[in-house]
Amino acid sequence: MSHYDGFAREYDEAVARHSPVIECAYEYILDQLKEVSGHQVCDVGCGQGELARRLARAGARVTGVDLSGELLNLARTRSSTQTIEWVHDDAQSLRALPDNRFDIAVANLMLMDTPDRDQTIHSILPPVLGVVGVKACLTPN
Ligand SMILES: C[S@@+](CC[C@H](N)C(=O)[O-])C[C@H]1O[C@@H](n2cnc3c(N)ncnc32)[C@H](O)[C@@H]1O
Repeated sequence: MSHYDGFAREYDEAVARHSPVIECAYEYILDQLKEVSGHQVCDVGCGQGELARRLARAGARVTGVDLSGELLNLARTRSSTQTIEWVHDDAQSLRALPDNRFDIAVANLMLMDTPDRDQTIHSILPPVLGVVGVKACLTPN
């Protein structure tokens, strides 16, 4: 269970409002990745799935992973026309994704939420064959 379950709707609304911090992070990630078409991309800590949907629109085959069942429910609702695989799992272990199928992993605005950041990065890295895009945003609390 993720503490994001308690304010999934509020986070979803912030994304829908194009909150500048969140929007800026999406643009940064997409700009860094440039070409994703045809690549298998894992969005680790995908939340309500906005970045995953943008990656899918750009032609990527996307798997979104998150610890929050509530945010994943919203992701599924928002993505009914897109083929994205949604997985409920802890990024610190990623037990549900043991195979080496990903070319790229992104973890946008989520590393600051994991108690063991090194373990999270370690669990993300083994399945990835190529480029890795990881962005952490530290908050003052
Ligand atoms: C600030 S939100 C960012 C969501 C999304 N990446 C975005 O850019 O909109 C942080 C997300 O990380 C997820 N998260 C936090 N710890 C996690 C963990 N250990 N495993 C998987 N997801 C986690 C939360 O549930 C939440 O969806």
